[in-house]
Amino acid sequence: MTVRGIRGSFFDFIDDPWKHVGDEEASARFLADGLLVVDDGIIVSFGPYSDRAGEYADLEITHIEHRIITPGFIDGHIHFPQTRVLGAFGEQLLPWLQKWVFPEEARYADRQYAKDGAVRFFDNLLASGTTTVQAFTSTAPVCTEELFEEASRRNMRVISGLTGIDTNAPDYFVDTADAFYADSKTLIEKYHNVGRNLYAITPRFAFGASPELLERCAQLKTEHPDAWVHTHISENPAEIRGVGVVHPGADDYLAVYEKYNLVGPKFTGGHAVWLSNSEYKRLHDAEASVTFCPNSNLFLGSGMFRLGKATDPDQRVRMTFGTDMGGGNRFSMLAVLDGAYKVGMINNTLLDGSIDPSLKDAAEAERNKLSAYRAFWSITLGGAEGLYIDDRVGSFDVGKEADFVALDWTQGPPGADWHSTLIADGGDPVTMDDAANMLFGIMIVGDDRAVDQTWVMGERAYQKA
Ligand code: GUN
Ligand code: ZN
Repeated sequence: MTVRGIRGSFFDFIDDPWKHVGDEEASARFLADGLLVVDDGIIVSFGPYSDRAGEYADLEITHIEHRIITPGFIDGHIHFPQTRVLGAFGEQLLPWLQKWVFPEEARYADRQYAKDGAVRFFDNLLASGTTTVQAFTSTAPVCTEELFEEASRRNMRVISGLTGIDTNAPDYFVDTADAFYADSKTLIEKYHNVGRNLYAITPRFAFGASPELLERCAQLKTEHPDAWVHTHISENPAEIRGVGVVHPGADDYLAVYEKYNLVGPKFTGGHAVWLSNSEYKRLHDAEASVTFCPNSNLFLGSGMFRLGKATDPDQRVRMTFGTDMGGGNRFSMLAVLDGAYKVGMINNTLLDGSIDPSLKDAAEAERNKLSAYRAFWSITLGGAEGLYIDDRVGSFDVGKEADFVALDWTQGPPGADWHSTLIADGGDPVTMDDAANMLFGIMIVGDDRAVDQTWVMGERAYQKA
């Protein structure tokens, strides 16, 4: 048993800031000088240093100075085997998959390639401050195995699963419904709830899943009801039209997954750009989740996620934010916040009535403004709630796993350093408002250079050179 303390300035959340319009500070918790005590990776005490230090007088304490410490970032939607192919030029979703993605993902059928890719994948995540992902793999079981194996070596909490596609992909890449079922079973037995690994039944998307494949997914969910379900939904207009061809008779995209009993708690549909009001309402009723992937939605030209719609208090939908790397061109969740803020502001302009007064919805317009509170909640506690893992990660509550990141608000591109001195007279944050302003600076003026150290289960897993 190793008990250790971490002293520093901590910022986390106790509630959803969208529930505190006009008083978002009420959702957050800031300790300018706090002490986090970790026993075997689990948080056993958290509070002001002055209160706790006496109780833990003999504790070995690591003092992280001049940083803001937040829970580790949670990426709700990322593609492990696209680690090398991110940022490919010039196509929308369907031709992009054929031209760039399937050929690269096919390489992950080779165990050594998958092993090397996994090391790079997790190195990139940790250097970006990300400690938990929900990740797609490929059709090759070894790809999923190597992801879980590398996550286990690093003791990181991941959700992942064999990524099934049996239609609308090249012959060299497609799976069959039966092989997908059998391989998924083997992988669930081997990895689900083993260490910090969690398994997601993962049909890639309805456009690439025959009715037979989705039947097999339904069977897997019945046989393993505590497994997650991860897929894509309503990302791109051509894709959505194609779903109507693969699944004739479905009223809309969500109805395909509903038909196979996949939509409920622990279901995540990535992108969700073109969902109808009815689909939003049904996702809310089912307590299912969507992922906002702004950088990917912009990079692939998919469209504008309706942030103010997803956060409608009358039919709130659970939500994670995701890179969707390699459709997203960065590993960084800070870059996701930059993109998300800009998408929100465009939505705000469309909804504030200044273009077309008949479209005015002042409340929804406001919900599109991504404050630092909304932003950092979304990639920590909110992301954990979206994935139904908030009993384990996402904040500094006692009993949770000690995954966190130390951010240096002075580091970033040219200009970030002097900009940061506008806040707290260039010193350390004193108030919650100071800290929130610094976090906003990090996500909008800064970048992943602000990530100074990343800790996993109370151990330092990354330190910036
Ligand atoms: N839909 C099906 N596969 C993919 C993928 O790899 N990336 C994105 N962005 N959308 C998908
Ligand atoms: Zn994706």
